[in-house]
Order: sequence, then C-alpha cells, then structure tokens
Amino acid sequence: MKGEHHCPGSLLAKMYMQEVFPSIKSAIMQDAEAVWVIRYHPQVSKESLNITKVSLDEHIKWFKKKYINSPQNYCFVLKKIDRVIGYARFDIQENKELLLSMAIHPEYQRKGYGSFMIQQSLSKLPQRSVITAEVKKDNLVSKKILTKYGFIYFGESGDVINLKKNYD
Ligand SMILES: CC(C)(COP(=O)(O)OP(=O)(O)OC[C@H]1O[C@@H](n2cnc3c(N)ncnc32)[C@H](O)[C@@H]1OP(=O)(O)O)[C@@H](O)C(=O)NCCC(=O)NCCS
Repeated sequence: MKGEHHCPGSLLAKMYMQEVFPSIKSAIMQDAEAVWVIRYHPQVSKESLNITKVSLDEHIKWFKKKYINSPQNYCFVLKKIDRVIGYARFDIQENKELLLSMAIHPEYQRKGYGSFMIQQSLSKLPQRSVITAEVKKDNLVSKKILTKYGFIYFGESGDVINLKKNYD
C-alpha cells in the first residue's frame, strides 16, 4: 500500500540519528531519577566533593524546586534515544556566578560525550554568564574538558582546584 512504509522508515531514521548523535535538552521532572542514578554511581561519586547521599524522594523534591521551579538554575541532560546518559547542572551562587556540576554515566564515558555536553550547555546559558567549577586536583579528564572550553585556574584549596569561565 502506498505510504505504508513511510512512517516506520522515518522513525527508524530518527532513532538512528539520535543513537549516533545524542542531544542536549533542558531537564524535565521525568529526568530527575536518571540524574540521581548517575550522580550516585560509585565512579561518579568518587569525584564529588559532597559525600552525603540523599534519598531518591529527597532528590526529586530538591530537583523540582531547584531546576523546574527556579529560572535561575539550569540543568541540561544529554539524551541518547530516550535514555539520559549525562547531566550538566549550573547552580546560581550568592555572587551570581553559576557553579557547574557535570557527569556522564560511566558506561558512556571517554567517547566524547562529556565534551559535547559541555560545549552545548555553555551555548544555551544566558550571555555574560560567569561559570565556576570545583574539581579534584587528580580529576584530569574534567580539567582537560573544562580547559578546552575556556575555563582557567583561579585558585585552589586542599585537593580541589577552582576553575572559572568569564564571558568574552
Ligand atoms: C568528566 C566527565 C563528565 C567527562 O566525560 P567524558 O564523556 O568521559 O569525556 P570526553 O570523552 O568528552 O573527554 C575526555 C577527554 O579527556 C581525555 N582523557 C581521557 N582519559 C584521560 C586521562 N586519564 N587523563 C587525561 N585525559 C584523559 C580524553 O582524551 C578527552 O580529551 P580530548 O577530547 O582532547 O581527546 C566524566 O568523566 C564524568 O562523569 N566523570 C565523573 C564526574 C566528574 O568528574 N565530574 C566533574 C566534576 S564537576
């Protein structure tokens, strides 16, 4: 029948494109759990400066307040088909700078997705945003990515270095 194969074909093409090219989206409530799963994966937690684990219920409440109901904070997710494989959160500080926290699910690390996610998220922030990141000194991959996208060293404390990206 005429046109019978049109929809499945274009759906397949769409799925293929999304498989090959994951995309960045602003996070929605349905992404909260996946963000929590990635955040507390042992390989991600070990790079975190905050060791307190919050329950999924607490996280969901916090996520809603922080990213869904507040326009000042930003959370972007990297999606492959419909799976969230990474996140980049930018939290407003008292001095108006945005503090970055990012992670890629360990199954998907070292494939260029972290770099893509940061590059895309930075382009979606308001112009003239100043962004900071606090990274453990031995976190070479994060330092490499952030430096690549214009972050520079601006101080350190203990085993943590502070990086900052000013607007151009
Ligand atoms: C940091 C993180 C988001 C990077 O994501 P990713 O998808 O693995 O990163 P990419 O594949 O895009 O890039 C990795 C870069 O580091 C390089 N790299 C990989 N292993 C490395 C190593 N052991 N030492 C130095 N550089 C390394 C890669 O060559 C690549 O650089 P290139 O683009 O110049 O080739 C991810 O590793 C992660 O979630 N880590 C745990 C959480 C974390 O550390 N968050 C940062 C705190 S804000």
